[in-house]
Amino acid sequence: MPSSLYEELKQEYIRKTPRSAAHYEAARRIIPGGESRILVTYAPYAITVARGAGCEVYDLDGNAYVDYINNYMSLIHGHAFPPITEALKAQLEKGTVYAAPTLPQYDLAKHLTDRIPALDKVKFCNSGTEAVMYAVRAARAYNRKKYIIRIDGGYNGTSDFSTVNMAIDRKRRPGALPARVTEPGVADELSGLVIPVAFNDVDQMERAIKEHPDEISAIVMEPMLGSAGFIMPQPGYLRAVRDLADRYGALLIFDEIVSYRLSEGGLAALEGVEPDLTTLGKIIGGGLPVGAYGGREDIMKSFLPAHNVLLSASGTFSGNPLSMTAGATALAHYPKAAIDRLDRLGERLRQGLRAAVEKSGAPVVFTGSGSFTGYHFTRKKRVENATDSMKTLEDHMPLYECVHMAALVKGYYLMKKGRFVLSTAMEETLVETTIRDFDEIFSRVKPLCDDMLHE
Ligand SMILES: Cc1ncc(COP(=O)(O)O)c(C=O)c1O
Repeated sequence: MPSSLYEELKQEYIRKTPRSAAHYEAARRIIPGGESRILVTYAPYAITVARGAGCEVYDLDGNAYVDYINNYMSLIHGHAFPPITEALKAQLEKGTVYAAPTLPQYDLAKHLTDRIPALDKVKFCNSGTEAVMYAVRAARAYNRKKYIIRIDGGYNGTSDFSTVNMAIDRKRRPGALPARVTEPGVADELSGLVIPVAFNDVDQMERAIKEHPDEISAIVMEPMLGSAGFIMPQPGYLRAVRDLADRYGALLIFDEIVSYRLSEGGLAALEGVEPDLTTLGKIIGGGLPVGAYGGREDIMKSFLPAHNVLLSASGTFSGNPLSMTAGATALAHYPKAAIDRLDRLGERLRQGLRAAVEKSGAPVVFTGSGSFTGYHFTRKKRVENATDSMKTLEDHMPLYECVHMAALVKGYYLMKKGRFVLSTAMEETLVETTIRDFDEIFSRVKPLCDDMLHE
């Protein structure tokens, strides 16, 4: 049953957003759920956003919200960043897309291969989902093996193989291998080629590989679990995975679609571990649709038309000059100094929020690094894998819903599941105000935590 606090907040939200409510009623008559992306909807209805500027979005009623979603981690400079807007205007004058090589594509490829040590060669597509799909295909074409190791509860987009254990195996006992969790639309013959393992558990990874020691094509993983809660790798974990991949002749694919922003070379470079292939997306499109995959030259040469292991990479809009222009401009404005500044803001946010919950006694664990912060209602000391984060999320959803609704009422736009994503449009003063406001919000939900959290 919804708590009285939630009901009170919801009524406040409804009073504040009548135009979004009306739009939702109209939209859901012709779009199932009123929206194409499942993640951006929530009860009673999502705000309809009319525009964004810098670190804020504005709804149809003119309410402003500080945007801590940043289109699911893809807007590194916030909304309508002037250099990107100007560069796009200039490109628009010249047309949107041509069936030909272009200079903007070269520009973005140059930025990426200069910045990322593990990227000898790179190709573009239109989404992160596609990028992972191509990387896996490249791995299988390269070593002619068939099994893929994937992280339980990790997110690599929505292609068939990526849906396997996108939802966690909820019944997994600590240390046990996760059972396969599949979606009804994916044939068993396909999902059977994916072996799920928990994040941050090297022994388990080795046990999983040993089920088919000569047949593992690739380990596909986010080096930081993003959507499952900004969970960082434990010291030495990625190195140990790299060693396992080498020992068993599997390729290592890092999905850096979210984590790339953590350094110029991505999280792999920060951790000093080189994958064989890397997938990218989100911020490298500067706010437009994009995906990229690349890595070792000997693997990427499968995509050369002249090579005898021909792999067909295509896509009507792959490498389109608008996405490439926006992406290259975004990266040109994201040098090490900008990353360091953003990381300091993120560090201050985590430190301030931690101090606030300690004061109120609310049982919250914070995860994340740099400009990513996640909060988890749990009495556990640490959140180490997707079971830790997703179980507490599902079991204590009313708490997350209360914080989310309280945030909306106060003018903060954040994911219901408890994440803060920073952009370079944010300043120190904003972070300080956020800490104060969330101090109040966490104190308000504390009594509800006492009722719900017994673990
Ligand atoms: C780690 C990771 N990989 C892949 C994807 C899929 O990217 P896209 O939504 O562009 O298909 C996402 C999207 O959130 C992601 O977080």
